[in-house]
Amino acid sequence: MAFENIIVEKKDGVALVTLNRPEAMNALCTPLMEELHDALEDFEHDDAVRVVVITGNEKAFAAGADIKEMAPRDFMDVYKADFITHKWERVTQCRKPVIAAVSGYALGGGCELAMMCDFILASETAKFGQPEVTLGTLPGIGGSQRLTRLVGRAKAMEMCLTGRMMDAAEAERSGLAARVIPAEGFMDEIMKTAQKIAGFSQVAVMMIKDAVNRVDETTLAEGVRYERQLFHASFGTADQKEGMAAFIEKRKPAFKDR
Ligand code: CAA
Repeated sequence: MAFENIIVEKKDGVALVTLNRPEAMNALCTPLMEELHDALEDFEHDDAVRVVVITGNEKAFAAGADIKEMAPRDFMDVYKADFITHKWERVTQCRKPVIAAVSGYALGGGCELAMMCDFILASETAKFGQPEVTLGTLPGIGGSQRLTRLVGRAKAMEMCLTGRMMDAAEAERSGLAARVIPAEGFMDEIMKTAQKIAGFSQVAVMMIKDAVNRVDETTLAEGVRYERQLFHASFGTADQKEGMAAFIEKRKPAFKDR
């Protein structure tokens, strides 16, 4: 697949997507998001891909939706086209794990894209923010909802109302980033984490993702019931037999995704 706005590399079970509009701080234009959609569709059907990583460059993960693309559009235009819906939310439908590896700015739609991933690993240079208020608008790809769920109402409200940026340490402290990683060797550590997940049973990994995601949609009792069903179902897999046998026999498991 030939792309202009992203670079895709597949290695050792990991598909690495690098957002590639450095001249525009990786601003998320429609062609970029369509390419990301198409790449994710491909990964979903490619057995060689077990984990996806989305990253940017050292300066910017992505500095938001493309302001130059949006500026001339009016209400009827964006409403009728359902702007930033079709294809833009594909990452939330991925069944395989998606990691956001954030260096530099993750602002507006960039922060929202990172939050649509399963978890964020932040370089110590990362800066997160929802500065839409400074443009006379508001977050549009779920920022007001996902940021609030992740960091709580007070911090999300303050960030969205002031447009202030959060650094990596604050992002980790607040639950926005899973972990802060030194800038030096950042991508090596990201790939190590992705490859670790890629080495586990894919069915177990997918069930875990499915179970954790239930938390946004249901009550605690329902969520625990759902988790229990998946847990029981995992006993019907060869990988659960292999994983537990390997532990008892003090050897490395050889998972077969069965
Ligand atoms: N859209 C389009 N172009 C952008 C962009 C964006 N979101 N962010 C940066 N760029 C462009 C700049 O216009 C500039 O292009 P030119 O060289 O052609 O002038 C280039 O990228 C480099 O940017 P700067 O010169 O501004 O770089 P800087 O280092 O001085 O500042 C920055 C970096 C703080 C990230 C600054 O670029 C910035 O504030 N960007 C906009 C951030 C923003 O408001 N994001 C929210 C967008 S709205 C949104 O995302 C809505 C939604 O929820 C869906």
